[in-house]
Amino acid sequence: AIDVRKLYAQGHVFTYDPGFTSTASCQSTITYIDGDEGVLLHRGYPIEQLAEKSHYLEVCYLLLYGDLPTAEQLEDFENRVTKHTMLHEQMQYFYRGFRRDSHPMAIMVGVVGAMSAFYHDSLDINDPWHREVASIRMIAKMPTIAAWAYKYSIGQPFIYPRNDLDYASNFLHMCFAVPAEEYVVNPILARAMDRIFTLHADHEQNASTSTVRLASSSGANPFACIAAGIACLWGPAHGGANQACLEMLREIGTPDRIPEYIERAKDKNDPFRLMGFGHRVYKNYDPRAKVMKQSADEVLELLGIENNPTLQVAKELERIALQDDYFQEKKLFPNVDFYSGIILDAMGFPTSMFTPIFAVARTVGWISQWKEQLSDPEHKIGRPRQLYMGHPRRDYVDIENR
Ligand code: ACO
Repeated sequence: AIDVRKLYAQGHVFTYDPGFTSTASCQSTITYIDGDEGVLLHRGYPIEQLAEKSHYLEVCYLLLYGDLPTAEQLEDFENRVTKHTMLHEQMQYFYRGFRRDSHPMAIMVGVVGAMSAFYHDSLDINDPWHREVASIRMIAKMPTIAAWAYKYSIGQPFIYPRNDLDYASNFLHMCFAVPAEEYVVNPILARAMDRIFTLHADHEQNASTSTVRLASSSGANPFACIAAGIACLWGPAHGGANQACLEMLREIGTPDRIPEYIERAKDKNDPFRLMGFGHRVYKNYDPRAKVMKQSADEVLELLGIENNPTLQVAKELERIALQDDYFQEKKLFPNVDFYSGIILDAMGFPTSMFTPIFAVARTVGWISQWKEQLSDPEHKIGRPRQLYMGHPRRDYVDIENR
């Protein structure tokens, strides 16, 4: 690869690359994607194996520290995460300041940003211990933050974390338990939730991760950086696609209406796109979507709702799109968001919670990348250049002469 920095420093070269389609912003050892072959590896391990044999907190350890943990290391890590699941009690007042009908992502951006006002002992990015504590805190507290955003939006009391439950079960408990009744987490749903977290854990330099790295490059504190990532994730071209996708599938409603939507997606005068389809890097089937599709089948069958009409529409839409010249030519395949919403819907989550769940899962990816960046001796402030297309120099004209 050409080291553009050296050439640029000598004043020789200036690249114009909208959307950074061919610019590497960093070196990384965390995640590898081969978009043509549909391969995704975390620290070398294929996502299919991790989804089948591992679980989310083990994948968190792998992403953060580079290798699979021993049983002892995993136990220690899980204990450390579990110890930090509570939110500072005063943060409840912060929630109560929001309107009840706020989107949970809006609340998450605010609450995570505000953590820097509460956890002063993990703000020093030059201190490895502060960095470690901030990392564990965010992985531990994010489910609580998302679950409380949900509870607040439906007017129910906040449910405190239960440290006797595993990560996914605790999240489901905080979302669906109510103080008046006993709530027992369904192990099928807990396993499915854990798999959704695992499949979303990291995806190298996507828009939100790049946002986290860019924010961090100025020396911003970890909570501010992750809040920036959450804000970016919310957009429908990125993490917001899972909400938009399920809403689209519901709007289509029945398989006979699919051709109409396919035609709209192909029409250049119509801004409509098939949500959950296409990817900047994958020009083949997204390996996460394959696992997610299988998971949707399994979960719905186990729950006895395999004839779910939305799943039928999704499968038929996929079948028709993959045979269509337009989608074949542009190499548009289902991405991770195409089937995840169907599972989340079956679990009882409203569509507004889909992107917050993505944010919970991606937190470890953001943090691993943030830590990697800070320990890179070559890292420097991110400062893209521009092609100036405006006026050349001109003289100021007094207002009475304009
Ligand atoms: N439906 C219809 N046409 C599409 C779609 C789609 N979902 N996605 C891309 N295209 C077309 C574009 O119109 C474009 O056509 P053109 O070359 O004739 O102009 C071509 O395919 C390439 O699309 P780009 O937007 O240039 O590709 P890019 O890599 O910039 O975008 C993106 C990738 C944003 C994911 C896009 O495919 C999209 O908008 N998909 C729908 C939203 C979505 O599912 N996002 C989730 C992404 S995965 C994630 O964040 C977890």
